[in-house]
Amino acid sequence: MKRIRIGLLGCGTVGGGFVRLVNAERERIRTRYGVDLEITRILVRDLDKSHAGVDRALLTTNALEVIDGDCDLVVEAIGGVHTAGTFVRRAIARGRDVVTANKALLAACGRELFRAAAERGVTIGFEASVCGGVPVIGALRRGLAGDTIESITGILNGTCNYVLSRVEQGVSFSDAVVHAQERGFAEADPSLDLSGQDAAQKLRILAEVAFDAPVHREVVRGIASGTRGKLIAEARRVAGGVELLVEPRRVGIDHPFARVIDEQNAVVIRGRAVGEVFLSGRGAGSMPTAAALLADVLECG
Ligand SMILES: NC(=O)c1ccc[n+]([C@@H]2O[C@H](COP(=O)([O-])OP(=O)(O)OC[C@H]3O[C@@H](n4cnc5c(N)ncnc54)[C@H](OP(=O)(O)O)[C@@H]3O)[C@@H](O)[C@H]2O)c1
Repeated sequence: MKRIRIGLLGCGTVGGGFVRLVNAERERIRTRYGVDLEITRILVRDLDKSHAGVDRALLTTNALEVIDGDCDLVVEAIGGVHTAGTFVRRAIARGRDVVTANKALLAACGRELFRAAAERGVTIGFEASVCGGVPVIGALRRGLAGDTIESITGILNGTCNYVLSRVEQGVSFSDAVVHAQERGFAEADPSLDLSGQDAAQKLRILAEVAFDAPVHREVVRGIASGTRGKLIAEARRVAGGVELLVEPRRVGIDHPFARVIDEQNAVVIRGRAVGEVFLSGRGAGSMPTAAALLADVLECG
């Protein structure tokens, strides 16, 4: 039986969901894939916080006990750029594969990290960084690897989609933002979502995977009171490069995006040979994002 020992950085919404999912799926994965999963250590900041379903003996506030300890692979679920980047660089230098949900880190220093990983012969899995539980990175990297991708169009930010769905039902913009915060979709400071920057970060990651061409032009417009429709992110091949657009657009009732409501995400990938492929589902949240992390763990391991 193959064994994968996992060092986990972070035990919040995503990291906590990952622990619960590993516990729930361990036996099935053993039988189905012949892989024995073990979480060896978990980094948190505050040991006194309650972490339901987590073995407290695994918790530590010392990152080196996780990264340099007894593990084959590191799952990064702390978020942010600086500290997470330091930990990921160290894990790569120690020859660990890394699995991350951190789109901000990849948007800020993805190229450098992927180069370092390639030099060290390790893998960075990042399915969870875009569209939570919707396997769009896997579709681009594997299922559609044989085709030339012409465009990727998506609803990539669940908070904006939730807010715009509520506005459509007559709720005020500011109340809709508060509802999104109460339901755990929007951050206390939702400006990264509402400005379109979160969608732009995810779009850059998808474009990097799908196109072997430089970005010629990037335009990012967010949503505000008075916006109607959907926040659409589009990456498309243009002469000699790629164009990235994030902007609110009206979509016709016949368009597949018309049925994508609340915190759902969706992506239409258009390939030269395959035509249009439509993916949709839960783009964030504890368990969907954990499922994407675990898929990467199984693939790396
Ligand atoms: N939430 C989602 O639905 C979602 C979806 C897709 C991707 N993501 C990404 O997943 C990552 C984690 O998000 P999250 O929502 O799970 O965040 P979160 O709930 O705030 O959890 C963060 C965890 O990391 C720990 N942590 C943070 N900074 C640390 C540090 N400097 N040293 C040690 N531990 C530290 C926290 O410990 P304490 O609790 O002890 O402070 C907490 O356990 C982010 O990159 C986010 O963009 C999230």
